[in-house]
Amino acid sequence: MTTREFRELFPILMRKVYGKSLVYFDNAATSQRPRSVVDKWVRISQESNANIYRAVHKLSAEATDAYEQAREAARAFINAGSREEIIFTSGCTAAINTVAYSFGQAFVKAGDTVIVGEGEHHSNLVPWQLLCERTGASLQILPIDDKGHWDLSVLKGLLAEGKYGADAEGASQRVKLVAVTHISNVLGLVNPVEAVIRLCHAAGVPVLVDGAQGIVHERVDVQAMDCDFYAFSGHKVYAATGTGVLYGKKRWLEQMPPFLSGGEMVGTVTLSHADFAGLPHKFEAGTGNFAAIATFPEAFETALLAREPEIATSYEAVCSYLEDALRARGDVRLYGDTGNPAGQAVLTGEASPAAYRRAGVFSFTIDGVHHEDAAQVLDKMGIAVRSGLMCAEPVIRHFGVSGMLRASLAPYNTMEEAESFIKCLDKAINLLR
Ligand SMILES: Cc1ncc(COP(=O)(O)O)c(C=O)c1O
Repeated sequence: MTTREFRELFPILMRKVYGKSLVYFDNAATSQRPRSVVDKWVRISQESNANIYRAVHKLSAEATDAYEQAREAARAFINAGSREEIIFTSGCTAAINTVAYSFGQAFVKAGDTVIVGEGEHHSNLVPWQLLCERTGASLQILPIDDKGHWDLSVLKGLLAEGKYGADAEGASQRVKLVAVTHISNVLGLVNPVEAVIRLCHAAGVPVLVDGAQGIVHERVDVQAMDCDFYAFSGHKVYAATGTGVLYGKKRWLEQMPPFLSGGEMVGTVTLSHADFAGLPHKFEAGTGNFAAIATFPEAFETALLAREPEIATSYEAVCSYLEDALRARGDVRLYGDTGNPAGQAVLTGEASPAAYRRAGVFSFTIDGVHHEDAAQVLDKMGIAVRSGLMCAEPVIRHFGVSGMLRASLAPYNTMEEAESFIKCLDKAINLLR
């Protein structure tokens, strides 16, 4: 399949805005939906709309089947070992909050530590801040340097400091969880989550990976990665909105209390007590967003199509062109640098640690031009980009700026669009200076 053919799967990409062809470069916020996803959502709503699990009638059985097929599709897409480890949520934020509340309730107390990355989206920062406020635990930060790379020596130090007890045998860990992002929604760098997981597991500490962007750009295999939790949203990876997945290792999920409670997550209920259903239902109280979740098989099929060599090669070329063109401008500062991470080999024990790679996410500032103004002028030219703090204020502040412009691409974006973007950016800059 060619990029052109792939693009034609997405009706919205044919539309005009202000009389101009739409150039949609805000994919990190949400991807567009292929026709197959929209059709599935409509089909379930029009033909099989009934509450899942609850009734014996035909419509309920169809809706339930579609829901469980979606669970299998999600399991296969991230290679989870079992469907019990796939919890449906309303999105990545809800998935992370589930862990912050529920893992927090089971394992985090005053005096403990939770570590988060400095480059996190607010969704993988604020829930941990609240958990620490609730429990009296301390929140520690895995800092980034000016390339956007994690300083793993700090992580090593925090893990070692967190050890307490008489000797290595009897020692236990005060660090209870590390939560980091697979790919930053600002810097676009693919972080070495595997190295973090190895360091943490050597100290007996579980790791949550925020995969909101990682699921889009990487082939995620949660068993190979060995993460303890992986959270992502459906809407960034072609599925309907209001959908998400929390992957969790069974051994953790089984020990965690429910987050929300109510219908369908229970076993036996009396007026004074309830016991809980098994996994994954223990974490799925209330009626799930079944028509939207049912779009997962079509969404993941689309994501797999995007990985076909012809499309993947063309997408890489578009991204390289864009990066080079932005870097070629002396007045543009692009954030996040893929250069080899210093000293990581020593820290992780790997012979040749993987260099950081960039996914198709480009955040930058322009000398003398406010990001918001540039975004507005680009919008009038038919180009959709994001501007501002991008729900990741600490990482924006790290680079000493008040906001950035972000062009985030998807495999349906073409070279013509990238060239048009660079020309329009030039025009916008001349207009605004
Ligand atoms: C890295 C990252 N984490 C978490 C989220 C939150 O995703 P959602 O708003 O779909 O819950 C986002 C959304 O942009 C993100 O980019």
